[in-house]
Amino acid sequence: MAELALDGGISPVGVTAPFPLFSREAVTELRREILSEEVLDKYTVSSYISAFQGREYPQHVAPFVHAAWTSPEVLAAVSDAAGIDLVPVMDLELGHVNYQLAQPGRDGFLNTPHEPWAQPSAPEDQRRRAQELADADKGEGATNVMFHHDSYPFVCVLMLSDCENMIGGETALRTGDGRIVKARGPSVGSCVVMQGRHISHAALRAYGVGERITMVTSFRARDPMVHDGSVLSTIHPVSKANRLNYQWSMYRLKLLSERFAVMASQLEKKKELLPADDDDDGRGGSEVVNVEEMSQWIDEQVSYLANTKMQLMQ
Ligand SMILES: [Fe+2]
Repeated sequence: MAELALDGGISPVGVTAPFPLFSREAVTELRREILSEEVLDKYTVSSYISAFQGREYPQHVAPFVHAAWTSPEVLAAVSDAAGIDLVPVMDLELGHVNYQLAQPGRDGFLNTPHEPWAQPSAPEDQRRRAQELADADKGEGATNVMFHHDSYPFVCVLMLSDCENMIGGETALRTGDGRIVKARGPSVGSCVVMQGRHISHAALRAYGVGERITMVTSFRARDPMVHDGSVLSTIHPVSKANRLNYQWSMYRLKLLSERFAVMASQLEKKKELLPADDDDDGRGGSEVVNVEEMSQWIDEQVSYLANTKMQLMQ
């Protein structure tokens, strides 16, 4: 974050280099589930953010995807990279898929092989031209996804296509002092972990690939006391109110109740600091509750609760 000239955030790690997370066999299993007729027919949506996305399917029809993103090993690897212990935000954010396929349309999806296949390289002159375009791309013109902040603190973007011959397709990050830097995209089975809520970023256009499938899971700090600036602005357009409001409310109420329990037990430990007999002004001994700190903490919880209400989907 310091290198990006950004402050705030919940970890010193802004964005990681790509690192391997899943084997080719695991990638094939993930693809088998997200390229199934059931997921493609019942769990895909399109929005201004991405033309074709798969959402909310893992708990119903993709046990491998669900198990992958809730496994302790994967959470440990992602947390280690992020520099802070993370958990998925809510079930309905597990394994969000962005599909861009060689052969568009429903039949194109169903004909896409489950095994990630090395895509042919374009002729040399086309490659050179594409490289020029990609080098010049600063994320200001046509991009796959325009500059934005994510809705949740951290994100893990996993590549499920063999993009060896891809040109461009990086993530552009806007630094605190106005520069644009490009973060290299992951190769098949690899992922990038990014603090997307706190960094303005854009997905640059990829050249020279027909197929590009990424799987995105969003995370927040496991520790309930860590700042959580989550919102749902990019989530409303791709969600059904009923399910979203239920999971959102549950996650916020559980997190708040954990916070209150931590604060209460901290106070409980200070009990012995209370004097047995108050002196004349009733303020004997050391101050057990720091009024200024407690007031600020209460204000933070009030605004967290207000934001919980504001983000409910009408
Ligand atoms: Fe993003």
